[in-house]
Amino acid sequence: MSEQRTTATGGMETSYGYKDVAAGEKQSMVNEVFHRVANRYDLMNDLMSAGMHRLWKDAMVAWLNPPKRPGWKVLDVAGGTGDIAFRIVDASHGHAHATVLDINGSMLEVGRERAARRRLEANTDFVEANAEELPFADETFDAYTIAFGIRNVPRIEAALAEAWRVLKPGGRFLCLEFSEVDMPLLDKVYESWSFNAIPRIGQFVAGDGEPYAYLVESIRKFPNQENFAAMIRRAGFDRVTFRNYSGGIAALHSGWKL
Ligand SMILES: C[S@@+](CC[C@H](N)C(=O)[O-])C[C@H]1O[C@@H](n2cnc3c(N)ncnc32)[C@H](O)[C@@H]1O
Repeated sequence: MSEQRTTATGGMETSYGYKDVAAGEKQSMVNEVFHRVANRYDLMNDLMSAGMHRLWKDAMVAWLNPPKRPGWKVLDVAGGTGDIAFRIVDASHGHAHATVLDINGSMLEVGRERAARRRLEANTDFVEANAEELPFADETFDAYTIAFGIRNVPRIEAALAEAWRVLKPGGRFLCLEFSEVDMPLLDKVYESWSFNAIPRIGQFVAGDGEPYAYLVESIRKFPNQENFAAMIRRAGFDRVTFRNYSGGIAALHSGWKL
């Protein structure tokens, strides 16, 4: 058991939150978490982040700035219930096509229902697959997005290599993830909120605190901003930069396939 952040050299493959697990074990444990939380996922996101995930997601889509013309395709990996995909379609004035890919059928089912309610079926499709082995030909997409997903993927390097492969030359990679807080007082408040309040809210609202303890611990294990940027560069991306939100609680990494 280790509470140390992993570095650019890896380590996420064998950590399930703070627990050390055998390579190959993590994915099924993560899948169990998201099967358990799928129906309450959107509500819990609002409660756990005090609504801030909405602002961070809006900022991600604003930075992506999808073109307002038909024929532009984005792949939203670990897309879950569709939050990023729906925002992108809206920001493109209804022109973009978004493929929501997730390994978890329960999360996708919620996403499909939400797409139908928003009448976005023509702009979206939902694919159950692993980020480490994307079922698409090389150079298929104009953009690849992933929000609060990459830290759940065991083999992050494999997922980044796949992102690079399926992007067209000139394509954009954007990854939103919880990261390392760089403000002295905020880190204490955030620490206390994460480890005390979030599992309790999970217990109270969803009747189950354990999945939320995993989510919090996995945030602390994920490589910090610089180390993750180095991983993205190693996968072949150019012009890799990041922006912090809310003092580094979340960070948005950007790269280009040039
Ligand atoms: C915290 S949710 C994020 C959902 C959505 N992107 C959002 O921001 O609201 C993480 C998602 O990652 C998915 N996931 C975990 N491992 C994955 C993998 N190897 N490939 C694809 N999706 C994965 C989970 O099923 C879950 O839906």
